[in-house]
Parts: sequence; structure tokens; C-alpha cells
Amino acid sequence: MIVGVLGGGTMGSGIVQVAAQNGHQVVLVDLNEQILNKSKAKLAKIMARLVEKGSVTEEDAARIQSRITYSQDVHDFRECGIVIEAIIEDLGIKGKVFAQLEQIVPKGCVLASNTSSLSIASIAASLRDPSLAIGVHFFNPAPLMPLVEIIPAVQTSNATVTSTKALIDGWGKVTVTCKDTPGFIVNRVARPFYGEALRIYEEGIADFATIDWAMTSIGGFRMGPFTLMDYIGNDVNYVVTETVFAAFYYDPRYKPSLTQKRHSEAGYLGRKSGRGYFCYAEDAVNPSPVEDVQLGQEIVERILVMLINEAVDALFLNIGSKESIDLAMTKGVNYPKGLLTWADELGLEFVLNKLQSMFEEYGEDRYRPSPLLRRMVRDGKTFF
Ligand code: NAI
Repeated sequence: MIVGVLGGGTMGSGIVQVAAQNGHQVVLVDLNEQILNKSKAKLAKIMARLVEKGSVTEEDAARIQSRITYSQDVHDFRECGIVIEAIIEDLGIKGKVFAQLEQIVPKGCVLASNTSSLSIASIAASLRDPSLAIGVHFFNPAPLMPLVEIIPAVQTSNATVTSTKALIDGWGKVTVTCKDTPGFIVNRVARPFYGEALRIYEEGIADFATIDWAMTSIGGFRMGPFTLMDYIGNDVNYVVTETVFAAFYYDPRYKPSLTQKRHSEAGYLGRKSGRGYFCYAEDAVNPSPVEDVQLGQEIVERILVMLINEAVDALFLNIGSKESIDLAMTKGVNYPKGLLTWADELGLEFVLNKLQSMFEEYGEDRYRPSPLLRRMVRDGKTFF
């Protein structure tokens, strides 16, 4: 089957590589010729490195690259069995593009979007046959991150879900099916990793370096929240938070942080601008963490119970199965453990008590425990 990819930026290029490495002929279309050249050159470099490391042979590397057609013309999708869209995150533009693609692709061709935050139902609604639309959400970098969230819209047919899932499973990815709700699983459940870390800083409990130290050294996370936000870009991370917040009708649990907004406004975007919460200049000296184990434990517990509460609430609202919710966080964002598994290990009563005491202390809805957590504690149950 020929795979089409629309948009040759960060995500599109990664998806093209995955499909080509799995034996597909691939057509990559981008309006911008320079982007196409860049995408091609980047893949050549990646392939050369893989050959050097001995992970692919020179012949295979050449074969993989020869499977890809680079084009500026969407009509080149005319023989595709699936087209995966990875263009700018703008509902109006995506809708128009989907309607245009439907006119070009063969009958029955699945039209998938890699959107991270837009509603799949609204993208699907631009099609005459919306049953062929679906969300397939890869994680950056697509060739390396195993997770792909599969998001059927209310209009999506079972056949579209089954064939898309089978295709992407066949690429060796870990797929989880989730509901078409803001942030899907990962970008919803992960919000407190950033938001609660920022809140701890704002209350003056600890500085950026100490919070990061606690989350990595004690929590076992691969990257601390501030290092990760600097990596993602404060502008990008802030907008995702704001989008999720608005999409949930301003549920206070997802309230964005003014600290992050100010950093973004100041141009302290993170690595890409040379400065974010930390400084990235060559001679920069960043503050050292206060390595106080008790303080560190408190920081980890506070962020962790907030993350667990999100995971439990996602299960409560059937966003995904318990297995999917745990897989999503370990395979999409490298969490050391699934949050529901972690909750079982910590003890659900401990998690509930910690949330409840914050809820009472602050009087903010942000800290309200999920009804499912209360129910499970009442019934003495565990998740697994
Ligand atoms: P990007 O800005 O790197 O690439 C977008 C590309 O689309 C550009 O090359 C642009 O020339 C092209 N483009 C724009 N309009 C077009 C059109 N009408 N026809 C053809 N090409 C067009 O963006 P990125 O980061 O790759 O994101 C793409 C999509 O993937 C967005 O929906 C984003 O939310 C989503 N996403 C991004 C992730 C990330 O970490 N960057 C992770 C997962 C999803």
C-alpha cells in the first residue's frame, strides 16, 4: 500500500521514515520546496548514521530512501491507501485540506490526522464520507518513540479503526485507542507534570533546579519538568496547556501558569532561544539544586499524586483502558512506570489522602480527587 504524508516538517518527516523503513512506497507532499529538500537531506543523514552503526546495510538504506517520492502536488496522493496529515495545527486549514484530499485519493482511502490537540470529529466533518477520518498521534521523534494514539471520531467506521490500527501495529509501534477528547491520553494526563511543578515554584517551595533534581533523582523521571519544558519550548508547551484548558471549558485543573506565560513573553523559550528556565550559553553557570531528600520527596509526591489523579480520571471517563493509559505514559513520554501501576504501589489510600489534604488546604478544585479514586479506596480495590 502506498502511504501519503502531508507536511514534511518535524513530524511528517519522521512518519515518512517509519513508513519507508516498513517497506511502503511513500509520497511526501509539502507546499514548501525547501522543506522537502531539508526533509530528504535529514533522512539521508539519519540513514548514513544507521549504516555507520551497523543497524541497516548500505543497500537497505538506499532502498528505504528510494521508496520516497517528494512532491509539492497533492494530486500525487491519487494512489494512496492512507494519507497522514502533519501540517500546521489550525482547524480551518486542516478542514479545507481534508476536503481537498478527499477529491483526490482513491475510494476507501483513510484520511488520518497527526493533530495533537484538535477535535478529530471536527476535522472529519469536512469530509463527504467522515467514516474514513481518524486521528493517529505520533510522538516526537516519530521513528524513536514507540507510542501512537489512535483516535476514532464519533463518525469513524470500525473498518477504518481496524485497518489503521493493524497498519501501525505492523510498523512495530505500540498503539492505544483513545477517545476524541482534548489532549487524548498523553497530553491530558501529563499536564500536572508541568503545571504542578510550576505551582510549586510559584509558591516558593523550591527553585527550578531543585524540582528537576527531585523528579529525576528521587522520582526516576528521565528529565525534570523545567528541563523538559525548555526542551519542548515554553511557547509551544504554554499553548498546548492553554488549548487543553479552554477545551475543557476552563476546568481549573488545567489552568496555565503565569510563570510560563512570562517566560514565553520574555523570549525565554528554552534551548531553542538559548535561555528558558535555565541558561544554555556555553559558559552558563546554572544554579545547583538544594539536595534535601525530604523536600525532594514532598515535591515528587505532590506532582505524582496529581499525575495519578489525571490518569484515574481519564479511566473514570473512559478515555482509554487502564492498560492503554499506563502504556501511553511509558511509551509516549518515557515515564518510569505506568501511573495506575504506580498508584497501586503507593497505595490508593495514600494517594487519595494526599490529594484530599491539598484539596482542603487550598480550597481549589484543581486538587479534587477523581470520584473513581474515592470509589476504589472505599471498595478496597487496586487497578491491577
Ligand atoms: P512543522 O511546522 O515542523 O511542519 C509542518 C509542515 O507543514 C511545514 O513543513 C509546512 O510547510 C507544511 N504545511 C503547512 N500547510 C501545508 C499545506 N496546506 N499543505 C502542505 N504542507 C503544508 O510542524 P510539526 O511539529 O511537524 O507538526 C505537525 C502536526 O503534528 C501538527 O498538527 C502538530 O500539532 C502535530 N504534532 C506535533 C508534535 C511535535 O512534537 N512537534 C507531536 C505530535 C503531533
